[in-house]
This record gives sequence, C-alpha cells and structure tokens, in this order.
Amino acid sequence: MQAILGMSLQSEIDKRKTFGIISHPDAGKTTLTEKLLLFGGAIQSAGAVKSNKIKKHATSDFMEIEKQRGISVATSVMAFEYRDKQINILDTPGHKDFAEDTYRTLTAVDSAIVVIDVAKGVEEQTENLVKVCRTRKTPMIVFINKMDREGKDGFDLLDEVEGKLGMHVCPLSWPIGMGQRFQGVYNIYSNNLRLFSAHGKQSDNETIEISNLNDDSLENLIGKPAANVLREEINTIKQVYPDFDQDAYAKGDMNPVFFGSAINNFGVKEMLDCFVEIAPPPLAREAEERIVRPSEESFTGFVFKIHANMDPKHRDRIAFLRICSGTFQRNTNYYHVRQDKKMKFSNPTMFMASKKNIIDDAFPGDIVGLYDSGNFKIGDSLTEGEIIHFKGIPSFSPEQFRFINNADPMKSKQLNKGVKQLMEEGVAQLFTKLDNNRKIIGTVGALQFEVIQYRLEHEYQAKCEYENMPMHKACWLSSDNPKAIEEIKSRRKNNLALDKDGKLVYLAESAWTLKMAEENHPEVTFHTSSEF
Ligand code: G4P
Repeated sequence: MQAILGMSLQSEIDKRKTFGIISHPDAGKTTLTEKLLLFGGAIQSAGAVKSNKIKKHATSDFMEIEKQRGISVATSVMAFEYRDKQINILDTPGHKDFAEDTYRTLTAVDSAIVVIDVAKGVEEQTENLVKVCRTRKTPMIVFINKMDREGKDGFDLLDEVEGKLGMHVCPLSWPIGMGQRFQGVYNIYSNNLRLFSAHGKQSDNETIEISNLNDDSLENLIGKPAANVLREEINTIKQVYPDFDQDAYAKGDMNPVFFGSAINNFGVKEMLDCFVEIAPPPLAREAEERIVRPSEESFTGFVFKIHANMDPKHRDRIAFLRICSGTFQRNTNYYHVRQDKKMKFSNPTMFMASKKNIIDDAFPGDIVGLYDSGNFKIGDSLTEGEIIHFKGIPSFSPEQFRFINNADPMKSKQLNKGVKQLMEEGVAQLFTKLDNNRKIIGTVGALQFEVIQYRLEHEYQAKCEYENMPMHKACWLSSDNPKAIEEIKSRRKNNLALDKDGKLVYLAESAWTLKMAEENHPEVTFHTSSEF
C-alpha cells in the first residue's frame, strides 16, 4: 500500500510545473499569461486577465491600485492543464513598489519566464528580478516580445541579455525580420518554421517542417533575401552559442531564448511546448534543519504571501501556501511550527484562472489558499509535526523609511493591531529603534505609506502620521564575535533597531556612513537581506 501511495505521489509531482513570469511593466507579462491560459483552455477569451494589471497611469492613484490588488487575489495563482501537465503560474506584480511581494513569490516557484520588450531591451525591473532568480539559481527562459514592432537587432539583444542580466543564452527560436518585415520564427529546438500573419490564429498545422535550411522551399516561403539572412544568422548562432543542455538549464547556467509576439499569439506555443518539456518539476527545498524532498510522504509547506480581504467587514485573509512535500489534505490536522499548535483547514482553495475551487488534496508544487484570521506570517511553515523552517524567504533592505506616529491617542490598541497585521501581510517592514523604541516603517516605494495609512483608517479605525526620516539602507548584522556586537550596540545605539523577528539592524543615513560603520566595526558583517 505504501509503495502504491508513493507511486501516485511521484506521478503527481512529475506532472507539475510551477513558475512565475517576470518583466518590467508593459513588456507584455499580462498578455503572455493570458495566451498561456488560452492554450490551457483555462479562459475562453482574451481580456480575462487584464484586470489584474496595475496600469502605469494609476501609479499615483493608490485607491485604484488597492482595488486591483483586491482583484488580483483571483489571479495570484493561475492553474491550468496542458499536455498532461499541471501548470501553476504565480502572478508577480511588475510595479516597482510591490517588488518585495514579487521577490517573495519567486521563493515559491521552480522556474521563471522573463519577458523582454524587443524595442526597450533589458529594463531596470527585469534586472532586479532576474538578480533574485540568479541568486536562487532558478532556471529561466527568456521570451523576447513584440516582434511585430521595430526593435533592437536580435544579436544585440542577446548581448544585452548576457551583459546586463548575467545570463548564458541559448536561442531556441529565431525571428525572420521584425516590425513590418516580420515574417515568422524559425524553431531551432524542433527545426520547423512558423509563418506570421498579424492577428491570425495559430494552429498546429501552420508549422512547416524544414529539415534543411538550404532547401529551395525556404525561398518560396519567405523570399530569397530573407532566406539568405536566416541561413546566415542560424549559422552564426550555431557557431557562437552552445547547443541546448538540459542540465545546464536546470542548474540555472543556461537560458533558452524565444522570440514572438504575445498579443498576436505568435511564438508563444513554441515556447510553451518547449517549457512543458524542459521546465523542472517541483524541486527539493532547503530548510534550516535539512533538505526537504517533494517525494517525502510527510506533508510540508510554507506561506509566501498573505492577502487581506479587501472588504473591511470581513477581516479574514488568505495565506498562500506552497506545498513542498507529501500530500496536503482538507480537514486534516497540521502543525503550525512557529505557533506550536495544530490547525486544520476546511476550505483550502485552489485558483483555476479566475475561478476558485475548494480542494480535497494538493501536491508538491501546488499553491493552496488558506483562509486565515491572523494566524499566519510570511515564512511560516506547516508540517505533520516536524519542526521545519524553510529558508529563502528573506526580507530585503527597504528603500524608504518614515517614523510612524499615532494620530489618535484613543486608538493606540487598534493602531498597534493594524500595524502588526499589515506587517505580517508583508505590506512593509517595521523596525523598532533600540534607543527610544520609536517605530519606523520601511518600504520599497512611496505608495505603501499611503496604502498603510488608508487601510489603518478603513480597516482598523486607527489614524497614523508619518515623519520623514532620511535613511539610505537597513542592514542586518552578524558577527562571529559576540563582543563585536556588544560594542556596536553600545557605540551606535542611535542607529540600531530590531526587525520584526527581533534581529539587530543597522540604519545607515548614507552610503558613506555605512562605509564608515563597516570600517569601524571590521568584525561585524552588514547584510542587505535578512538571510545570510
Ligand atoms: P505587462 O503586464 O508586462 O505590464 O504588459 P501587458 O501585457 O499589459 O502589455 C503592455 C502593452 O503592450 C499592452 O498595450 C499590450 O497590448 C502590448 N503588447 C503586448 N504584447 C505585444 C506584442 O506582441 N506586440 C505589440 N505590438 N504590443 C504588445 P497597451 O496599449 O498598454 O494596453 P491595451 O490597451 O492593449 O490593453
């Protein structure tokens, strides 16, 4: 019986591909997500995912953003089936102010697709997000989008991707022209050609097998000049870039590149077909105690995201749990490690595109939404009893800091509760100064300050005020020598604070003061993330 159970768990694991799409806003992430869902039959029409997007023009209108955050619960995870695989797409906000959300979501994926706009090339947010994936050695596929527009030369783009993103690229498809002259893509991975017709539908029978690029039939299809260019370029690719190597990709050392146009649904299927073949199944996860393998029969999982219900009358939240090992079952008692207590869940939810379904069981790689009345914090783990703390869910140094003051002394209890819960959701980070216990909120963008103020007022009936605090970075401190920590504590009390977990943090006013502190305390290491 055990063996049979084991087998079925393994086949569930092998079926799953859990990934995130990352890009700079406007590169086409939403459009690509939508096309993938269409292929999986998870949605019926284009436009269904659009509402998920935080539009550029709404950046100053945080109410609009909150509304969209509310909608985005439904699209936080989009699951669909394609060619016998269960694909879980984890949504990652592209908006810079929500970067921390995105970093955390990336801890729950097994691979990523990076979307780049052919005209804009590698942009700032792409760089930041790819850096996070690279440190985690997440396998990444690149999709160069908007080939129906004029953009950068293909080889220049590959250079840029290697230079700015530190990737080792391996083109698996190659464009024939671009913009007005865009004729289609040659699929290097499976040696065939697909011709482009703007806004045309793409179906399987449009693929033209070309076993030999020197064949005259190529000229009949795309014309002699384009055929010659293609032959030359493919020749160059074969000489300059390595052949695809599954192992190198799985280790994060090789990045396949595809070209296409998401809006025209062109080149997307090539990538998806390759993705389901090569993308890794749920991987083992590192915990402080040991490595946890998905095939272990005992269930484990961790919370990587908490989403508040936007309806103030229902203050419940949804905690998103990534299953790491074993089988998660509804109405079963599990161990909440941090709180040292048993919990069971009667309505665990899976998100199938825009539909929510209550599920009975879930497997490694799956993301389950758990209704939560305030029991969870980001990073919490659930197990069948074992004490496990999963690694890789760090906090990063915020970019902006402000003191938070109570503006209504009658409501200090509400304020404290509200701030605590919003921090647990990961909206921002709270630091408490060592010298005077004053509270500091740190965020990635200015937007969160408004969001916090608004939500405190509307959900917790509390009022807060901010006081500017020119601050450069928060650095977590460590040292092998306890005396060195004691020394910095006594000499730099004004600059020290505790983070949410009581870890010691140095608040640096500028890059220069940080450098000075590092020089003055050579035995102390200053880290820009809470995990080191
Ligand atoms: P994002 O989620 O990465 O922010 O990008 P999104 O998919 O929303 O795409 C950003 C814009 O780029 C959209 O136009 C979208 O239609 C367009 N786009 C996406 N893929 C392609 C493509 O292959 N070719 C071309 N030419 N455009 C593409 P928009 O005008 O901002 O929005 P909308 O009015 O079309 O909704």
